[in-house]
Amino acid sequence: MADIIYRAARATDALTIAAIHVASWRDAYRSLLDPVFLAGPIEDDRRSHWLGKFDTPSANFLVDVAATADGNLVGFAATHRDRDPRWGSLLDNLHVLPEMRGRKIGEALLRSAARALASRQADDGLHLWVFEANAAALRFYTRLGGHVVERKLSQAPIENDRMILRVHWPALSDLL
Ligand SMILES: CC(C)(COP(=O)(O)OP(=O)(O)OC[C@H]1O[C@@H](n2cnc3c(N)ncnc32)[C@H](O)[C@@H]1OP(=O)(O)O)[C@@H](O)C(=O)NCCC(=O)NCCS
Repeated sequence: MADIIYRAARATDALTIAAIHVASWRDAYRSLLDPVFLAGPIEDDRRSHWLGKFDTPSANFLVDVAATADGNLVGFAATHRDRDPRWGSLLDNLHVLPEMRGRKIGEALLRSAARALASRQADDGLHLWVFEANAAALRFYTRLGGHVVERKLSQAPIENDRMILRVHWPALSDLL
């Protein structure tokens, strides 16, 4: 999209990224995550998560953001480089603000995350976990060439024993 800029996140983006994360989970995961968590604790949870990530940066944890021309962030993608010897780097989070979805911003973020990993000589392969019930995201990933390679119950306490799927791209070049 012509008027969206993609760039590496800065520490000063932490609270805005947290707010996008909250808005996206409240919208996309409203029937999936614990409603009590979504109603309140999610805000502190995401703020401390993202402030912590930027307070103690790691060369292997990469965050890209999508911003409008006037500087408002509308989405982000986070990856852990070379997270798994078999499946490669991990796409930890990919979120676009609900009102900005369906404009190829998510696709551009995923491709820019793959480019950032490749430019840091990451091993081949990218994977992620998605809720099986998140049909729209699953369609998005498979349309971009990802393969479902594993299915299991989530162990995360707030995820209520939901079924999750591992989606894998064998080569980063599949996304470049
Ligand atoms: C999944 C997501 C990152 C895709 O970003 P996006 O900018 O909407 O995606 P694009 O415009 O590049 O592609 C659109 C595709 O995304 C999917 N999609 C997912 N949620 C969507 C939504 N609310 N509106 C429109 N498309 C959506 C559709 O499959 C759509 O494909 P289609 O055009 O063939 O129907 C984004 O919709 C989002 O943040 N969803 C909620 C959070 C989430 O599920 N993240 C993934 C967790 S593993």
